[in-house]
Amino acid sequence: MKTKTKIGSQDRVQPLSTDFLTVAQQAAIASYPWVGKGNKNEADGAGTEAMRNQMNLIDMKGVIVIGEGEMDEAPMLYIGEELGTGKGPNVDIAVDPVEGTSSMSKGQDNSLAVIAVSTRSSLLHAPDMYMQKIAVGPKAKGCIDIDASLTENMKSAAKALGKDVKDLTVMIQDRPRHVDLIKQVFNAGARVKLFSDGDVTGAIATAIDEMTVDILVGTGGAPEGVIAATALKCLGGDFQAKLVPQNQEEFDRCIQMGLSNPEKVLTIDEIVKSDDCFFVATGITDGMLLKGVRKKEDGSILTHSFVAVGGRIQNFQFIEARH
Ligand code: FBP
Repeated sequence: MKTKTKIGSQDRVQPLSTDFLTVAQQAAIASYPWVGKGNKNEADGAGTEAMRNQMNLIDMKGVIVIGEGEMDEAPMLYIGEELGTGKGPNVDIAVDPVEGTSSMSKGQDNSLAVIAVSTRSSLLHAPDMYMQKIAVGPKAKGCIDIDASLTENMKSAAKALGKDVKDLTVMIQDRPRHVDLIKQVFNAGARVKLFSDGDVTGAIATAIDEMTVDILVGTGGAPEGVIAATALKCLGGDFQAKLVPQNQEEFDRCIQMGLSNPEKVLTIDEIVKSDDCFFVATGITDGMLLKGVRKKEDGSILTHSFVAVGGRIQNFQFIEARH
C-alpha cells in the first residue's frame, strides 16, 4: 500500500503571510522619511533594518535567498542570513526593502517594500545581474515564449485574450536598451506604457484586470525577477526569464551559484518551485499598484499593501491599515 507523506499545517508557509504583511508595512514606514531626500542608501538602510527586526519576531526558520547582497557586502539581509525564531516552517525569503530606490530618493512614484516567501529551496538563487523578462496574466498563461520576438508574443497573447493586437498595452521600462521592443509595439499598432522604475509593479499589473496591462517585457534586475515571478505564480499568471550576464565575471558567478547553463530559459515553475508561496508589497510612494505611506494629522500613519497567496487557496487582497 502506498503511503502519502502529509505536510503538517505547522510546515506550511502561507499562514505566515499576515506576519510578513507587518514586515512590509514596517519597512515602508521606516523608509518613508527618506522620500525625496536624495539619499538612497539611508532609505534602503532604514527599510532593511525594519524588515530584519520584524522578520526575526516570526516563528519560522527563514533564510534570505535574495537580499541586499553577499555576506561580505551587506551587514543585514545578506544572502544566506538566517532569520526568525527558529520555530515553525523552513522558508526561502526574497526581499527588496525599497524597490525603486533611486526614484523614491527623488520623490518619484512607484516605490514599494516587497517580499516573496516560499518553501525552503524552492526559490531561484538569482545573482544580482540583469535578467530578460516577459510576463502575462492568467488568461495568457502558456502563450509566451521568451525566445520568440515581441511581435510573435503579442500575436499569441492577443489570441489568448480574445483581443486585436492593436488593443494590447505593453509595459516597458523606459531605457535605451528597450528601443527595439518599443518599436515592435508601435509597428504592431499596439500601445506602450513606459515607466521609469519598478518592474515588479509592471509584472503584477498584467494579472490585475483593473490595471489594463497585457504584457510586461524587457530587461531588468534578476532579484526583482524572482520576486515578480512569485507574485505572478500566486496570481495565476505566467513569467519567463533569461539571465543576461554582462561579462565573464557575471557568467562565472552564475556557475558558482549552481546555474550550470546561465543563459537558459527559466520558466515560472523553475524560478518558484513550490505552490506554497506568497507575495507581499507595501507602497512607499504612490504608484500604479498602491498608494504610498501617508502621515495623518493625529500622528497615525496610513499604509496600503497588496498580498497575493498562491496554490489551492489562490487569492489577492488590497489592505489599507492605520498604524
Ligand atoms: P532599484 O530598487 O535597485 O532602484 O531598482 C529599480 C529598478 O527599476 C527595477 O525595478 C528594475 O528591475 C531595475 O531597476 C532596472 O535596472 P536599471 O535601472 O539599471 O535599468
